[in-house]
Amino acid sequence: PDAKRIDLAECPKNLGQPIKVEGWIKHVRRQGKNLIFIDIRRRMETLQCVITGQLAKTEEASQLTRECCVRLFGTLHEEKRAPGEVEMSVDFIEIVGPSPVDLEDKLNRDSNPEQRMNQRHLDLRSDDMGCLFSLRAKMMAGFRTFFQQRGFAEVTPPTIVKNSCEGGSKMFPVKYYEEEAFLTESSQLYLETMLATLDSVYCVLPSYRAEKSLTRRHLAEYTHMEVEMAFYDFEDLLKFLEDMLVFVTNYCATEAKVELAKLNPGFKPLTGSFRRMSYAEQIQWLKDYNKQHPEDPFINAETGKEYEYGDDVPEKPERCMVDTIGEPILLHSFPKELKAFYMKPSATNPRETESVDVLIPTVGEIVGASTRIDDYQELMDRYKELGMDTESYYWYNDLRKYGSCPHAGFGLGVERLLCWIGHRDHIRDACMFPRYMGRITP
Ligand code: 4AD
Ligand code: MG
Repeated sequence: PDAKRIDLAECPKNLGQPIKVEGWIKHVRRQGKNLIFIDIRRRMETLQCVITGQLAKTEEASQLTRECCVRLFGTLHEEKRAPGEVEMSVDFIEIVGPSPVDLEDKLNRDSNPEQRMNQRHLDLRSDDMGCLFSLRAKMMAGFRTFFQQRGFAEVTPPTIVKNSCEGGSKMFPVKYYEEEAFLTESSQLYLETMLATLDSVYCVLPSYRAEKSLTRRHLAEYTHMEVEMAFYDFEDLLKFLEDMLVFVTNYCATEAKVELAKLNPGFKPLTGSFRRMSYAEQIQWLKDYNKQHPEDPFINAETGKEYEYGDDVPEKPERCMVDTIGEPILLHSFPKELKAFYMKPSATNPRETESVDVLIPTVGEIVGASTRIDDYQELMDRYKELGMDTESYYWYNDLRKYGSCPHAGFGLGVERLLCWIGHRDHIRDACMFPRYMGRITP
């Protein structure tokens, strides 16, 4: 009762003192009738506890099961073989939240990914997931620190919208009272409305993509970190992306040491400037690859031939390229027919846009970026070319009519970046409750 309540991280400093700790049981090991070892978990820390003698035969001791929440009273001593080299001798057990043994049937070490996703609410309790979501929180703190240093303001655009941003066919419709609306695929257009108010803004919000895609980097709902900056030209944009990713990866390396030691011990933060490659050079790279790998070339499924200038390069060849090159790539100057309506054409080649994707090994595209068309007439001409309805974009068009300015911005997929830093194969692992085709619960 007069025991001091301590955090598991403080155990090594409290040897010999009467203490109490709270946590969830990770494992129970019973040896004979009088000896029970349990590992308890709280906030990514683990403490080994030992229960002996009469206490091991009590009703409470019999209720010690995996994921049971307990409050334990006792003293700490050194134990070289225990995690953290500290062990607790327990003299009193309080069962806070019992955990029936059927848990083992729902979720165990052999559960396959689908079973784990059905039990995601319990699966999140693993050590790996603890580290991953702690890493994510620190990574987001890194972004916000960076933006704050640069004087950017965080804003919150709506996610129930009328307009498409990226092309539209991949949006989820929602019934909005009596009107048709959609879940947004990007907050970019709304961010642009704040430039004349705040100059540089960002948001961290869900975006939704309804493609029937089941690849290991696609989510139907993902966390989109988007930025829009007034008076940024293309070169400013590229430099900004490098600075931001160097800052955030270094922030993770210093602030999330424990998490990275467990998830990705070989992680090296990014440095300097990134390799630049144009879309045209990417097509050439794929052609050269095919020459060197005639037995297994990359073929465009739509044309049945190798990739040519103007083709959309899908995930697999893109990832093969960045994995082979083995470092981040600023892939720039995409043809305009492959990109969204708002992208500014390149000054030197009007068929291409001032666009850039950031690719990283193992994941591929993590950022999509561009400068934006800022001339009213040019935007109108572009809508016409694409057969788009201009009327419903009246508010976006007004930004060009009333005091337009040159500007640029980008969107970054938070779960994709987390996959890379946290060394996960599949984006579903990097999302708390992933949404993808066929999955809406829990
Ligand atoms: O390249 P995207 O489609 O670009 C835009 O939406 C722009 N309007 C962003 C902007 O300029 N403000 O998406 C941006 C990023 C991608 O690079 C990718 O990292 C991520 O969003 N992303 C996805 N992440 C997970 N699942 C999906 N289905 C994703 N689709 C895009
Ligand atoms: Mg993209």
